[in-house]
Amino acid sequence: AKTIFSGIQPSGTVTLGNYIGALKRFTKLQDDNHCYFCIVDEHAITVPQERLKLKENIRSLAALYLACGIDPDKSTLFIQSEVPAHTQLGWMLQCVSYIGELERMTQFKDKSAGGKEGVSSGLLTYPPLMAADILLYKTDMVPVGEDQKQHLELTRNLAQRFNNKYNDIFTVPEVSIPKEGARIMSLQDPTKKMSKSDENQKAFISLLDDEKKIMKKIKSAVTDSDGVVKFDPENKPGVSNLLTIESACTGESIQQLEQKYEGKGYGDFKQGVGEAVVAVLKPIQERYEALIQSEELDYILDEGAEKASYEANKMIRKAKKAMGLGRVK
Ligand code: TYM
Repeated sequence: AKTIFSGIQPSGTVTLGNYIGALKRFTKLQDDNHCYFCIVDEHAITVPQERLKLKENIRSLAALYLACGIDPDKSTLFIQSEVPAHTQLGWMLQCVSYIGELERMTQFKDKSAGGKEGVSSGLLTYPPLMAADILLYKTDMVPVGEDQKQHLELTRNLAQRFNNKYNDIFTVPEVSIPKEGARIMSLQDPTKKMSKSDENQKAFISLLDDEKKIMKKIKSAVTDSDGVVKFDPENKPGVSNLLTIESACTGESIQQLEQKYEGKGYGDFKQGVGEAVVAVLKPIQERYEALIQSEELDYILDEGAEKASYEANKMIRKAKKAMGLGRVK
């Protein structure tokens, strides 16, 4: 069995992209591995968040993890800010990170593109905190979508650098990116990734969108004018994205789907994609409704934070000792 860690930011409602690229795979992994799944609220505050909205998003994300099939008897589900070890190790790793390498992270470059004045320094030091999340638990493997690949490479570098410089305490984690669905694209601009913080609501499907909304968003998805349902990300990014979505939702291969829609127009195609998405999200939403107000949810998060803290604190002791901090013997 491997140790697995992954996290999602509570910076809005989880999208279909998060589900296909990450969440959907978590539930399969938990059967044979030690899994930690985290609600990374400290990452969320690297950009402005409204207090009450953030609180709501944290709880909602916890309920969604469970509704998607995370089983608290198999996996440890917890909130990052409830385990202080994350920021503790995050600081230590900031002190082994170079400003230059952090400035080269594409996510930082994108988010600070409008000028650095209003950009928090947390946005720059976001990756060492992410590295801390992972390295605290001797993680062997991190399942994420394509957009996190660079952060994972940095995590591996930081682990190795620390191990060489101080003491060999960290496991250098592998990254696992799915073959299909690693980058679900925006429905309105299929050259951009689908993101929960997109200002255009029509660009993404939230896991809590109702049937009507889902159908409407899929029907207004940007495609092209040649009317052929064929997978060709280069020339037909919109159609290819919808094919990827349907394939991820039904388990049918892209080839099967191309056959299914042979000789049919985009109207039929979008109807099919929309129905496939609804079929996956409906049962998740039903479980979500039952969980969101429950005391059980708090109990699970309390237990999760306790279990995670216990493991993480062991690593904090080792890291402090390696660096010579405090009086750890
Ligand atoms: P976040 O919250 O942006 O996204 C959560 C997960 O969803 C994946 N993802 C996508 N996959 C496919 N298509 C998309 N359009 C799409 N958008 C997002 C992400 O790759 C991710 O796997 N920095 C991380 C959170 C994090 C983390 C960690 C992840 C903090 N600490 C430790 C792994 C391990 C983030 O912002 O993900």
